[in-house]
Amino acid sequence: MKTLRDFNVKNKKVLVRCDFNVPLDEKGNILDDFRIKQTIPTIKYLAKRGAKIILMSHLGEPEGKVVESLRLTPIQEKLKEYLDYSITKTNDCIGKETKKRVLEMTSREILLLENLRFHQEEKKNDENFVKKLAKLGDIYINDAFGVCHRSHASIVGIPKYLPSGAGLLLEKEIRILSKVLKKPWRPLVAIIGGVKISSKIKVIEKFLKKADHLLLGGEIANAILAVKGILLSQPIPEPEVIKTIEKIDLTCPKLHLPVDIFISLAVLETGLKEGYLRQGGPGQIKKEEKGYDIGPETVKIFSRIIKTAKMIFWSGPLGMFEEEKFAKGTKEIAQIIARNHLAFKIAGGGDTVLALNKFDLFDKFDHISTGGGAMLEFLSGKKLPGLEALR
Ligand code: 3PG
Repeated sequence: MKTLRDFNVKNKKVLVRCDFNVPLDEKGNILDDFRIKQTIPTIKYLAKRGAKIILMSHLGEPEGKVVESLRLTPIQEKLKEYLDYSITKTNDCIGKETKKRVLEMTSREILLLENLRFHQEEKKNDENFVKKLAKLGDIYINDAFGVCHRSHASIVGIPKYLPSGAGLLLEKEIRILSKVLKKPWRPLVAIIGGVKISSKIKVIEKFLKKADHLLLGGEIANAILAVKGILLSQPIPEPEVIKTIEKIDLTCPKLHLPVDIFISLAVLETGLKEGYLRQGGPGQIKKEEKGYDIGPETVKIFSRIIKTAKMIFWSGPLGMFEEEKFAKGTKEIAQIIARNHLAFKIAGGGDTVLALNKFDLFDKFDHISTGGGAMLEFLSGKKLPGLEALR
């Protein structure tokens, strides 16, 4: 695979796919800029060598429409804090105006294209859309490790049309994660949570083979508990995901699901509006139930396993940690991981990084990846389409 260092970029228009998909609050403020900071070395490298730098990214899930709150303006502002070069932004990632702006660019100038996912063609990897993007640059650099598990236009399409390579961040992620993939220390404990059920469910089978223990929390665990009719009645995911969940063998001794869940706004038989719901306890499987955190029994069980680990992979919070009353499970598990000084500890993903910063545990990990789903797929041994496209 070629890297940034293999190209002479002087005066060239370099299209850089970044992962600026950062968590935002309701006012559009960036809650955590880790992913942006991690891309700065690539941008500086290109600027120092006189390239014309065209940055592109998605942000959130606008579903193919222009969503004002998902414009990349806060990203542009954040980049200005880290870089001493002129950084302008387009109102669309393609189109006449964008082409014109690109043609006017001078060396060392940085142009940020508007959210790629304002066009549904991005996720569909539409050939026409790919061509329009590719025409903007002379060289394509992928520095978006976090999106390499997606077969989207800006990830797998553009490399068909332009000389392509990996950016400094992508190169670093592959180097570190490949090492642990080749020689994991054992016991290897994988912890998966978060809300992106459909992408994370795909790696469960792989981790049940690869890891010594797989601990599940968050929406992914809730979905399994609901589909298997164990504890909760929600969320019920899409049919594809249900099929995958149905195939999961719950008797596998490596698999650990929550045994208690903190539910809220639920109507239990006891009349409680919130509280812990335990496997085997009263008031189970009611339509209104929704889980927001793992319970203390689960924390105890997970903690015993985590303490024995020599290597830990973690992606996805175990509850809705953004709210204080649902943060306990994620916080305690993060602290327990941090206290295992013998294990090599890797965490990744936008929300997980945000949680680690919130609990002041960021520095306790050996590697923090910019990828969540992408990191899990890579560590599960799956080939990532974005990396294959560069090869
Ligand atoms: C992430 O947040 O994991 C990446 O930016 C990919 O985002 P996606 O899951 O919306 O494709």
